[in-house]
Amino acid sequence: MDKLIIEGSRKLKGSVRISGAKNACLPILAATLLADEKCVIKNSPNSLRDIMTMLKLLKALGMKSVVEGDTIIIEPVGERKSFAPYKLVSTMRASVCVLGPLVGKLKQANVSFPGGCIIGPRPIDLHFKGISRLGVDLKIKKGYIVARAKELHGADIYLGGHFGSSVLATANTMMAAVLAKGKTVIESAACEPEVKDLADFLVKMGAKIKGHGSPRIEIEGVKRLGGAEHSVIPDRIEAGTYIIASAITDGDIIIKNANLEHLTAVTDKLTEAGVSITRAADGIRVRRKKALSPVDATMLPYPGFPTDMQAQMMSLMSVTKGISVITEKIYPGRFMHVSELNRMGAQIHLEGPSAIVKGIKRLSGAPVMASDLRASAALVLAGLAADDKTEISRVYHLDRGYERIEEKLRKLGARIWREKEI
Ligand code: EPZ
Repeated sequence: MDKLIIEGSRKLKGSVRISGAKNACLPILAATLLADEKCVIKNSPNSLRDIMTMLKLLKALGMKSVVEGDTIIIEPVGERKSFAPYKLVSTMRASVCVLGPLVGKLKQANVSFPGGCIIGPRPIDLHFKGISRLGVDLKIKKGYIVARAKELHGADIYLGGHFGSSVLATANTMMAAVLAKGKTVIESAACEPEVKDLADFLVKMGAKIKGHGSPRIEIEGVKRLGGAEHSVIPDRIEAGTYIIASAITDGDIIIKNANLEHLTAVTDKLTEAGVSITRAADGIRVRRKKALSPVDATMLPYPGFPTDMQAQMMSLMSVTKGISVITEKIYPGRFMHVSELNRMGAQIHLEGPSAIVKGIKRLSGAPVMASDLRASAALVLAGLAADDKTEISRVYHLDRGYERIEEKLRKLGARIWREKEI
């Protein structure tokens, strides 16, 4: 296992290029299972472990892929299979998004039940609700989701849950519905840009979808889908993480290949806190113009403040003088980073789904442990701002979602490197 070492207290300067969005690319790759012909996926974050895991899973399902730089060429070869094994699904929850396309295309699927994870219980009742409304019989047998259908038919489906809409349940239902007979309407659909990007890709393949990006998606089933070429949207969470990297180090950086429209809630909050975020000729310029002030933030479905930026925002607030309250309404227990930030001197205490952050002047470097992807990013940010040396163990979490993070940060002037853990 590797660990990251950071010598902090250096202002970041220069420019960084944002990769394609992991959470858009994964369902898009799953959607290629619906295609009868070759698909070309560009701007894919191909060095991420999750993308490699998805390609392994698609291979097991009868797809052949070739990776060239940030492009994936993928096509069906030989017999299609419908069995997604535990070994692959258990390493990545997003594997569950092969369920919709498999059942849509083959009328059957055996997909390992994904289970919970460190950020919370993560049920899949909404996936079940959406797909079964299309006429699919779904059962859980021996740890597998067993799906069977004679024919899929369109339906009116309400997909709202206890915590609002669901990104992957919307994706799964949409992918199952594109080849179903008749019209499907999904109400309370997730509006996240990643869902819209998936729908844009499906439309290029020949699907008839309207309203994606809004809470009401209408799908008219078609008989077949062909191949398509698509460029994945930039990763808004990676972009948001680098925005905070500039703010937390009092740096001045240009972020290239990011889409500010996908980040309105984040940039609005950071602007309120005193971060200057402006469009420059070659990207987005981020710097501080004055001392930062504390802000309260609540995590909500898109277009609200994204839960995947909660931990990073907390690192910033932990060095912003005053009190801020960060409330998590998507995953009320997603606070594994709090105890690690407190090891670095932060003063954060939890009250139910809220973290009360009392900003201090400086964090001090410490050995800390990464628990999940975004918690790891928060520790990197804290380490960049802290005095002395921070050692982050279990960095494999970071490799699931941030392409070449040390290389990108080093180019911005950070002192960060990887070592083998003994
Ligand atoms: C996606 O997960 C992302 N993953 C997550 O990214 C992200 O945190 C999450 O959306 C929320 O934005 C991918 O896109 C691969 P949800 P997803 O279903 O779709 C509840 C990262 O760090 N819910 O939108 O699985 C659920 O418990 C990650 O990149 C149900 O109740 O999340 C949560 O409270 C981790 N029943 C809320 O809905 C269901 O059937 C939203 O979850 C499904 C979800």
